[in-house]
Amino acid sequence: MSDLLSLRQVSAGYGEAIVISKIDLQLKAGESLAVLGRNGTGKTTLLSTIMGVTRHRGGTVTLLDRDLTAVRTDIRALAGIGWVPQERNIFKSLTVEENLTAVARPGAWTVARTYEMFPRLKDRRANLGNQLSGGEQQMLAVARALVLNPKLMLLDEPTEGLAPIIVDELLAALKRIIREEGMSAIVVEQHAQKILGVTDRAIILDRGVIVHASASHTLIDDPAPLEQHLGVTGRKKSVITRASGVDLTFATPPLRVREANVKSKTPLES
Ligand SMILES: Nc1ncnc2c1ncn2[C@@H]1O[C@H](COP(=O)(O)OP(=O)(O)OP(=O)(O)O)[C@@H](O)[C@H]1O
Ligand SMILES: [Mg+2]
Repeated sequence: MSDLLSLRQVSAGYGEAIVISKIDLQLKAGESLAVLGRNGTGKTTLLSTIMGVTRHRGGTVTLLDRDLTAVRTDIRALAGIGWVPQERNIFKSLTVEENLTAVARPGAWTVARTYEMFPRLKDRRANLGNQLSGGEQQMLAVARALVLNPKLMLLDEPTEGLAPIIVDELLAALKRIIREEGMSAIVVEQHAQKILGVTDRAIILDRGVIVHASASHTLIDDPAPLEQHLGVTGRKKSVITRASGVDLTFATPPLRVREANVKSKTPLES
């Protein structure tokens, strides 16, 4: 079977800067991939490059053998890539229902089905986007991508900044969408341990290159690469907590990469 998505030797960035370098990545239909890495390592740039909004510096991007390398972002979306960007693109002046019906395209994912997946959205269907909580906005952003009936979804830190209980609810929904409904997806995520239970495979990016690639369960069984490349261990976490002055009790077991970076800036560890 041919690949759904294939990146071959892809380099891209902004202006003169090359941010991701010689990325090779293949995803089959129905497969899911977690993209892990510290802040600023190029995770968003990787997704943006798949969508075609970065400066292309080499390599090819294909979707079902169609070369999209030189194709505009809107055409890539029409070709079947649904993008949930880090900044949650929703129409704040439209209701939840209008947000969904404005973009829906024919397919298995109807507005009614996304309401089944996210009952909170059904309850809030008449509310405006700007009246929603952060968690509800994120659910709406995911639902908007779903009703486009994409072949592949790109989700950029869907749980960022959300309360722990909402994180769990959203991850449970993503697990159903990916595992039970078979949606192909690439998920950038800070909660490494939680997302690894959702995706088939995982890569770790460091300074724009792939430094680890394996099945997700391999990283669950042996998290040494997470510790090596994300810089978080159980022992260091208490140091990180003290360094950042933030109560991270909710961050166990998920690995909080952002706090890991705080640690590197505040070397309390002896
Ligand atoms: N629009 C832009 N123009 C110029 N440089 C950018 C732009 N967006 C990102 N960069 C730079 O590219 C590098 C990678 O950024 P990117 O946003 O891809 O990282 P990330 O891994 O998604 O980080 P985070 O975890 O903070 O979301 C960083 O050095 C960043 O400063
Ligand atoms: Mg990012």
